[in-house]
This record gives sequence, C-alpha cells and structure tokens, in this order.
Amino acid sequence: MSDHIPDELDPSGRDLRAYTDELRPDHRVVRNARGEWVLLRHADVVEAASDAERFSNAVSQHLQVPNGLDGDAHRAARATLDRYFTDEALAPFEPVFRGIARDLFASLPRGGTVEAVHDVGAMFAVRAQSAWLGWPADHEPHLLAWMADNHAATRSGDRSRTAVVASDFDAIIRSITDPRRTDLDAAPDDLTTQLMRDTVEGRPFTDEEIVSILRNWTGGDLGSIALCVGVLFAFLADNPDVQRRLRAGVGNAELDAAIDEVLRIDDPFLSNRRKTTCPVHVAGVDIPEGAHVKLHWTSANRDAAVFSDPDAFDPAANAEHNLVYGIGPHVCPGRPLATLELRVAVQEALAATEWIDWAPGEQAEREVAPVGGYARVPVVLT
Ligand code: HEM
Repeated sequence: MSDHIPDELDPSGRDLRAYTDELRPDHRVVRNARGEWVLLRHADVVEAASDAERFSNAVSQHLQVPNGLDGDAHRAARATLDRYFTDEALAPFEPVFRGIARDLFASLPRGGTVEAVHDVGAMFAVRAQSAWLGWPADHEPHLLAWMADNHAATRSGDRSRTAVVASDFDAIIRSITDPRRTDLDAAPDDLTTQLMRDTVEGRPFTDEEIVSILRNWTGGDLGSIALCVGVLFAFLADNPDVQRRLRAGVGNAELDAAIDEVLRIDDPFLSNRRKTTCPVHVAGVDIPEGAHVKLHWTSANRDAAVFSDPDAFDPAANAEHNLVYGIGPHVCPGRPLATLELRVAVQEALAATEWIDWAPGEQAEREVAPVGGYARVPVVLT
C-alpha cells in the first residue's frame, strides 16, 4: 500500500475530488508530476499540518505574510493580524455585507439562468472584500478581471504566468496603499489604513509586508469565496431536503455548521504546501529533507476512515474532524470572515427566492486540477 507509489501521476485536466477519491483507498501518499509528495489521508494531513517544526511553510521565494513564515516570526504576525477577525472587529460589517447581498439578488433575473460561481460568488466576494478593506468600488472591474486571470494562470500550471498575475495584483494593491502612504494621518479611516498604522513586535509593517498581507487577504480569498458559493448553490439544487430545511429558518449556528459540512463534502480549497526541514517518516514512507509535501485538504475531508460515508450530510457528526479551514498553527485566520460572508450570502439568497434549482438543459461544469469546486453552476432563481 504505502510502499507502492505510482509513477507519472498527472492530475492535469482531472476533477481533483474524483481523482483523490480513486487514489485514497490504495495510497496514503502519491507523488505528482512536480515531484511533490501528496498526503491524501486525514490522519497524515493532520500530522503534517500540526508539526510546523518538521514541515516548514517557507515554500516560496516571495515574501508571504503570514503564510510563508515559521516559528516566532509567524507567531508575532498572527498575534497582530488575528485581531482583525474577532467577532467584535467583524460585527460592523455584517449589515454592510447584507446590503451588498440584497442588492445583488435584487439585480439578478428570476426565471432565467444565473451562473452562481461568477454572477453570485465572484460579484459578492469582490464587493464584500472591498467594503471590508475600504477599497473604492471603481476597483471592482480590475479585481474581477484579476480573478479570471488568476484562475486561468493557475490552471495553466505555468509558474511564469502566475508570477505575472501576482505582480499585477501587487500593482492594484499599490495603487491603493501608495496614496495613503504619502499622508497616513489624513488617509481614510478604514481597515487598510488601520493595517498600515499597525505594528508587529513593536515596529510598523514594511510596505512589502503590507502588500503581502493584503494580497493574502484578498488574492487567495476572493477566488475561494466564489468557489464556495458555487459549491453551496450546487448542493442546494441537488438536495431539496436540505434547501427546504434551511428555508424553514435555522439559527446562525445551524446554518454555519451546514455550510461547513457542504464544503467538507466538496472542498474547493484543495491543498497547501510544506517543505521538510529534516528527513521525515510520514504516511508510511521516508521523505528526505527539503522535499515539497502537499496537504490535500479536499482528499482528507473525504477519508472514509474518519467520515464513514464521505458524501453523507451530517454536520453534527463531522464538524470535529472538518479540515476546510485547515488545522495547526497556520489554521485559517480568515475563517470568521469567510463564515460571516457565506452565511449572509446564503441567508439572503434564500430570503430573495422561493426556490433555487438547476437551469433546465444546462450542464454544471467541474473545475479541474489545480482548481477545485465548479467552473459553472447554472441555476434558476424562482
Ligand atoms: C472561503 C473560504 C476560505 C477557506 C476554505 C480557507 C481555507 C484556508 C486554509 C485551509 C488555510 C490553511 C493553510 C495552511 O495550513 O497552509 C488557510 C490559511 C489562511 N487563510 Fe484562509 N480560507 C478562506 C477564507 C479566508 C479569508 C476570508 C481570509 C482573509 C481575509 C483568509 C486568510 C488566510 C490566511 C492569511 C492564511 C494563512 C495563515 C497562516 O499561514 O498562518 N482565508 N485558509
């Protein structure tokens, strides 16, 4: 089992949820075409994610705050940045997100096809994130175009193309931060300015660090929220019982748990990388120092050793082992914000409609490696 590692695995063009479902029963770990060691099972992913000493986050040559940091530097950055995601810090944004969602659903057609990943997910994510950060609405088209380019570059697997897309995004961020930098005292009183005035270990963040933080707060997240919305709409259309139950009115805790469980079954945030700091023995194999290891969240979230029927919707039973937001020191700091945004989007979608169903005669399209979830979720809002 673990000592047989298939060669020449190439996930290109495959739906990674289906592909890892095929691999996981026979393999704890596989090597992909890049030579990365991909951990497929829940226990192994948890072990590596929880052990930041042996599995380092320093996987990129680019500065990534806090993602690419280890040890004390990582702890210090998280101590500062996690304060932006407390319930208290997020509470003022709830009515703002709700207004954005209401306007969006009011503008969408009834009876015609709505494509949930773009028309709902991407539009809502860009507007909500811009409102949260205090970014002007005229950046919306740039951010939407960037999201599409980013997905295309990720899909191409061409690192030089992803580097161009990353630098395009930095330019968008710089166009927002540079004018504030010239007179920070007079800058608009919003979250971006607050971050620029903030300190880590008693010193202000450098401009490079600010850009990196904002990139991680928006770049990675806009696409994830859009993909999550696509998965949620597809699930509601496929599961009338769950849709009916949520329409009957459930409290926030029950709705949040339902959303987390849908995302566990079909986790569009596929994986993260680590680099071994020493020779390690994990998933039954010896991996050398300096090797790249992938923690496959989507696969681990469907491991039958933990979730006996991975497709069964059972929020109460499965919450404890759900890995949608990761685990260990790098666990997602943005979870409370993502949870709030997704809750508001689903609540307002249900309030603005009598039913959400698949658009007749149209096909949903899955995303393929290295993107997760759906590319297209054509639905009809009634
Ligand atoms: C849609 C929902 C989201 C999902 C499924 C998600 C998932 C994850 C996961 C699995 C990790 C762990 C990464 C690792 O261990 O290497 C992570 C980390 C992270 N997430 Fe999220 N996330 C989401 C939304 C957000 C939002 C809204 C933000 C911020 C605005 C955010 C910011 C971050 C950052 C900065 C990290 C790195 C933390 C660190 O390295 O210490 N995420 N996220």
